[in-house]
Amino acid sequence: MAKNPLRVLVTGAAGQIGYALVPMIARGIMLGPEQPVILHMLDIQPAAEALNGVKMELVDAAFPLLKGVVASTDAVEACTGVNVAVMVGGFPRKEGMERKDVMSKNVSIYKSQASALEKHAAKDCKVLVVANPANTNALILKEFAPSIPQKNITCLTRLDHNRALGQISERLSVQVSDVKNVIIWGNHSSTQYPDVNHATVKTQAGEKPVRELVKDDEWLNSTFITTVQQRGAAIIKARKLSSALSAASSACDHIRDWVCGTSEGAWVSMGVYSDGSYNTPAGLIYSFPVTCRNGEWTIVQGLKIDEFSRKKLDLTAQELSEEKSLAYSCLS
Ligand code: NAD
Ligand code: LMR
Repeated sequence: MAKNPLRVLVTGAAGQIGYALVPMIARGIMLGPEQPVILHMLDIQPAAEALNGVKMELVDAAFPLLKGVVASTDAVEACTGVNVAVMVGGFPRKEGMERKDVMSKNVSIYKSQASALEKHAAKDCKVLVVANPANTNALILKEFAPSIPQKNITCLTRLDHNRALGQISERLSVQVSDVKNVIIWGNHSSTQYPDVNHATVKTQAGEKPVRELVKDDEWLNSTFITTVQQRGAAIIKARKLSSALSAASSACDHIRDWVCGTSEGAWVSMGVYSDGSYNTPAGLIYSFPVTCRNGEWTIVQGLKIDEFSRKKLDLTAQELSEEKSLAYSCLS
């Protein structure tokens, strides 16, 4: 029997991530090839004409799974009845700007859109915040949408996770799909900790630890980490725009795994509301390794954290605590 369409909101849909993301959703890359969708696209009034152009292109592409398009500059109309909300809208970081510079511009947007989602989205709506500062925007959204279950509000660190997989695959000249169980801990920022201590590669001789195959702890503990941490900035330097196709693709990965489940024996990284696991401060949106089943994520427990990692987990937690304070000061 044909499935009922799910309503998927993309905010900032006239922007560059939005332009890469909406055709992926309409093609079934986010929710699967059997799942019809109705796209809800929100942007601001100055982008209304461009947004309408995106709507025209979606119609022109004749996507079989796409059962309707709502393009609006009204948050209430855009949020009404949505099952999945991908929050991309906001002010992007430009070359030379620190992420904290965009904080005040974005937290007030997330406060008001939280209210629209709280009142008008489906009660079990799953929310993914992409716009930076992603963790803290998600936290603000959670605070101002108290009736949405806190487990339903997440932020995107899957792009960093995928970047880490990509770096290991390039270094070892192996298929990226054979590398698994890297972890991004903490903030989607340059303090994030890309951790390979539990990562493995599928080889003809079975699964081998990444550290055993790379045989270069110096590279893994320095260049690898900084490359992943700085990748967003490197893309901005090269493109004069922040990453878009990889961000859109990773957003699809995040929602697909959350809704459809992670593969057996594998985990992914998601920014989720911390319960204090791994001695991180509770009450932050912090990136952890998670597995997903039946539409729910669970933090992977019991991984050994060495002294080197401990310091890095604490450093990124400290930045997130500072961002939280700054965000609240911007709102008062
Ligand atoms: P962009 O400037 O091309 O698009 C942003 C869009 O948001 C624009 O169309 C703008 O009009 C719209 N917008 C602004 N205020 C809005 C509001 N109040 N409501 C709805 N829409 C609004 O930017 P982009 O390159 O698409 O990036 C979007 C965001 O994603 C940025 O914050 C960027 O830093 C972030 N980002 C995050 C990741 C990640 O991995 N978490 C990766 C890449 C980019
Ligand atoms: C990225 O990781 O590519 C972006 O978050 C960079 C940015 O700051 O927009």
